[in-house]
Amino acid sequence: MAASDNRQVNTKVIAVSDSSALAKAAAERVMTRIVANGGRVAICLTGGSSPKQLYRLLATDAWRSRIPWNRVHWFIGDERFVPADDPLNNMAMARLAFLDLCAPACNIHPIQTDTGSPEQAAFHYESELQSFYGADQLDPARPLFDLVLMGVGPDGHTASLFPDYPAVEETERWVVGVPKAHVEPFVPRVTLTLPALGSCREMLFEVSGPDKRAILTRMLDGENLPASRARSMGETIWLVDTAALPEDFSGQ
Ligand code: 6PG
Repeated sequence: MAASDNRQVNTKVIAVSDSSALAKAAAERVMTRIVANGGRVAICLTGGSSPKQLYRLLATDAWRSRIPWNRVHWFIGDERFVPADDPLNNMAMARLAFLDLCAPACNIHPIQTDTGSPEQAAFHYESELQSFYGADQLDPARPLFDLVLMGVGPDGHTASLFPDYPAVEETERWVVGVPKAHVEPFVPRVTLTLPALGSCREMLFEVSGPDKRAILTRMLDGENLPASRARSMGETIWLVDTAALPEDFSGQ
């Protein structure tokens, strides 16, 4: 495993050999964040394919037995506006992979998609987050989440914050509706905003496979993309496997 500081302040790149090492390293970070907080822990999950291996790993005996499930709460950073049992639903994927096997139902916090519109779903989830947090303003001294998991899309989006969409510039709202996606699946989305996602002790990107190399190169070059703007008020880590790492990555 090689670690280096990226050109971006407070962002660290950790390189691992392959996708299974990446899932294991991510699971270790999940555990570290849980152990660091002896009280109620809040973890914000992500959708897409990148975290699936991590989620399945957490459900295996070796990891499952280490997690104090009763005190860990699981949120989701963005949702596709499809029914809760649709295979495209991000929380459905996480539930199937590990949450329904391990976590108390009351600790699972999906974005409701049976509301009339993505915007209504966003207001609903924002008020759920605010009630969990106990305030409607984020306090820089008190992060909303212990850990936020993230992925990056081929266009540099993260969560459902797509390049040049107004949602990326949102500074007040915690959650917004996104009427149309920039990439597949082309369904409306609901997404946490950069301030809400950034209110965390650690933001952990999982970046895996050769298809991610081009976008990772652009991010490492400091291009202004939603994924490069997503930053924790604490630590931001890009966990990257060698297939995704640019060939000329020096480890700076
Ligand atoms: C979603 C995600 C999205 C995802 C990236 C990466 O709803 O699709 O939350 O932001 O993390 O698109 O997706 P992959 O892991 O599938 O490459």
